[in-house]
Amino acid sequence: MMYDVVPVLLILCTIGRKALSNLQESDPKCRYRVHFPKASWHTAYDVCAGENKTLAKISSQIEIQLVDLVLLDVEKLIEELEVKTDLQGVWIEGFRRSSNNETMQQNCRSLDPTFNIVTAAEDDILCLYYNYTDKKFYADNCSTDRAFLCESITTDLENCMMNNRITSVVSDIPNGICELRRTRDPITLEECKTGCLDDSRCYAIENSIETCIQYIYKHLQTTQCYFLRGTVFITHKGLFIYHPTPPSPAAAKPFKEWCPEITQEIIQEKIENIQKNLTVNKKETNQYIRTLTSAPDERQSAKNIGIVGVTVISVVFGVIMLSDCINVVRGIQNKCKRSDDS
Ligand SMILES: *[C@@H]1O[C@H](CO)[C@@H](O)[C@H](O)[C@H]1NC(C)=O
Ligand SMILES: *[C@@H]1O[C@H](CO)[C@@H](O)[C@H](O)[C@H]1NC(C)=O
Ligand SMILES: *[C@@H]1O[C@H](CO)[C@@H](O)[C@H](O)[C@H]1NC(C)=O
Ligand SMILES: *[C@@H]1O[C@H](CO)[C@@H](O)[C@H](O)[C@H]1NC(C)=O
Ligand SMILES: *[C@@H]1O[C@H](CO)[C@@H](O)[C@H](O)[C@H]1NC(C)=O
Repeated sequence: MMYDVVPVLLILCTIGRKALSNLQESDPKCRYRVHFPKASWHTAYDVCAGENKTLAKISSQIEIQLVDLVLLDVEKLIEELEVKTDLQGVWIEGFRRSSNNETMQQNCRSLDPTFNIVTAAEDDILCLYYNYTDKKFYADNCSTDRAFLCESITTDLENCMMNNRITSVVSDIPNGICELRRTRDPITLEECKTGCLDDSRCYAIENSIETCIQYIYKHLQTTQCYFLRGTVFITHKGLFIYHPTPPSPAAAKPFKEWCPEITQEIIQEKIENIQKNLTVNKKETNQYIRTLTSAPDERQSAKNIGIVGVTVISVVFGVIMLSDCINVVRGIQNKCKRSDDS
């Protein structure tokens, strides 16, 4: 977990407190992007993947705080939209199994167990969302439609202003991008961008030779909003995107494809692996024991020691017996002498 926290901490420390109140051109917050309209968890996952991102992985308190700041910024951006209330719950990465209360991310690593997750549905496999209002995590039916939060795969700072085809961010009805203000004095594109980044309501800019136009999101009923003639691309904040055409729904990928560890076959394979390893271990152990016990040299020397021992004992006994023999022989000789004398 420390690995996840450190880059975020570093980013926050290097950028400093200003990043927390205003958007910089490159900002840790711009690693995240909130998507509307609402979609199922699996659709959300596909949309993020299509942008080379993932659903936001929230695994530490510092990440929660960063995400809160992102959602606060987005809330200001869409102040005039009706979807504003939908921002309360955003899909993030992670599942929860009701049958064993296990929580995991896509890599099947468990989530920090200190995160309290409220169960909001009955199904076995539930998907996680973050409630921005009560700052809690919920596990809910994955097919429920929600706004969602994507996150960059890398920890690099991302440029907060991005360029997109206007048709991919603007719908005619009900949400449009309308002029907020325009500057008549000629200013550079950089100045135009900075002006927008400094204004929490500004979503997009258009900079032509004589004007810098700032746009905001608006809920439209009857009116239309207009762009400069010939506008095809628009430069906008990357924190939020409203897809005029909803993403095509993705089929729910079975749980076992996310976490293959969990299936019966994999469990069986694991058991077999362990057994194999145990057999290998047993063989290795036997070999090891043999190297300890089958020491022929030592045995030879033990034999030698034995032989020496036996020899020593034999010699000692031999000497005793020999000296005895000598005594006996002497005794016999003396007896014979005496008998000869008498
Ligand atoms: C995603 O990454 C691939 C390979 O790096 C690249 O070809 C593609 O253009 C990227 N897509 C987006 C939306 O950035
Ligand atoms: C989020 O929390 C607030 C406050 O508890 C609650 O009113 C709201 O219904 C919750 N929204 C979701 C989507 O869980
Ligand atoms: C899961 O958690 C809920 C409350 O958090 C508890 O009532 C339930 O018994 C738990 N289930 C299992 C299988 O541990
Ligand atoms: C919950 O998910 C299941 C599929 O997993 C779906 O059939 C059902 O309609 C969902 N319930 C709700 C209330 O969305
Ligand atoms: C079996 O042993 C190999 C090599 O020592 C190891 O990489 C693998 O993780 C082990 N598998 C199990 C299930 O213990």
